[in-house]
Amino acid sequence: MAEQPIFVGIIGYGKIGSGTHKTLLDNQESVDRKVGRPVRVKKLVDIDWSSPRPVAIDIPPAMKTANADEVLEDPDIAIVVECIGGTDPALDYVLRALRAGKSLVTSNKELIARHGKELFDTAAQHNVDLMFEGSVGGGIPILRPLKSCLAGNRITRIVGIVNGTTNFILTQMSQQHVEFQEALAEATRLGYAELDPANDVEGFDATFKLAILTSIAFETRVQVDRIYREGITKLGARDMEYASQLGYTIKLLAIGTEIDGALELRVHPTLLPDEHPLATVSGPFNAIFVRGSSVGEVMFYGQGAGTMPTGSAVVGDIIDVARNIRSGATGRVACTCFEGKRILPIEDLETRYYLRLQVADRPGVLAAVAKVFGEEGVSLASVLQMDASGESAEIVWLTHTTKERQMQQSLQRISDLPEVHEISGCIRAEAAE
Ligand code: HSE
Repeated sequence: MAEQPIFVGIIGYGKIGSGTHKTLLDNQESVDRKVGRPVRVKKLVDIDWSSPRPVAIDIPPAMKTANADEVLEDPDIAIVVECIGGTDPALDYVLRALRAGKSLVTSNKELIARHGKELFDTAAQHNVDLMFEGSVGGGIPILRPLKSCLAGNRITRIVGIVNGTTNFILTQMSQQHVEFQEALAEATRLGYAELDPANDVEGFDATFKLAILTSIAFETRVQVDRIYREGITKLGARDMEYASQLGYTIKLLAIGTEIDGALELRVHPTLLPDEHPLATVSGPFNAIFVRGSSVGEVMFYGQGAGTMPTGSAVVGDIIDVARNIRSGATGRVACTCFEGKRILPIEDLETRYYLRLQVADRPGVLAAVAKVFGEEGVSLASVLQMDASGESAEIVWLTHTTKERQMQQSLQRISDLPEVHEISGCIRAEAAE
């Protein structure tokens, strides 16, 4: 292949940068053939070259630099791969790359979720590609399927397990009967959880991913702060056990639904019926369930994070961009957020609820709680009374579908009842799809 290579610069050489580089090197001949021109990494940028990388690659010293300008200002480099994470300094680098006429590949979900519009506008002005398949679901192909293969559908619902750390923790709690802190410690020991796990366990990571998924699916730019969010830190192993007795599994779900032209967007722990296709997705795996007007239901499953799975998605993007460069077709698939659909307040949500209460163990307590539900129009589906000790008892309720507003009012009144010692958990529950 005598043609001039298409040169790539990778900024950020940690897990994803090195996984991308290794994937490109391992498959170089095949990548070149698929593109029709050689694709070569010219420069690697990192501020710390002394730390060990997750994959061993013998890198020529001349390829390594700590100065991003050596990529951003190199006229030979046509594709910049941003693997730094976060928004500072990634946003500045990415904008400079696009303005310099370079196409961009990133798996940075925070960057795309928070600054997608500015980045798309800049890419369009400069007629270059902006690709970010690895930003949601790691190695799982989901964004390009939504943008291309499913583009002929009207998407009405997306439900995803999009955070591997929390899915691992919840699986541990459920299967090993351990509490949140112990499961988190295990996730940290195995390298699934970051040193500061807040981004994952408080649900922020999942909101970034839901913003990206739903912006594409519902053709509306979804701002992260419009998504209702709850993390998993308040869940207990007992919630897992009770859920299981009721025929449910607890998952952190990212849910987007279009209802009469408006969007319901939420990330929170959810009781999923055991027969739901997402209920069996365990450990660090991710899965995304999509409902389209023509295709019906489809589900995407795989490794949602990690060096090589995310490297796989990033290299897929590099190949697509390189093909576009070869055929002179960069900048053709622009932003598809044509609409401005209204976002529904969480109070309008209609779903089922699981409620765990600590109450006084004496006659009339069940009736007092049931009376509040009755007066607020909340219909009960099941009740379990567990572990009555003579002084206190634990009661678990499952409601039929009700409005969030009515449930919140009921909770307020129930917490004021003298017989109720504590509301230990209130978790939304999904019906089978
Ligand atoms: N921290 C994320 C997760 C991986 O646990 O799924 C990167 O998106």
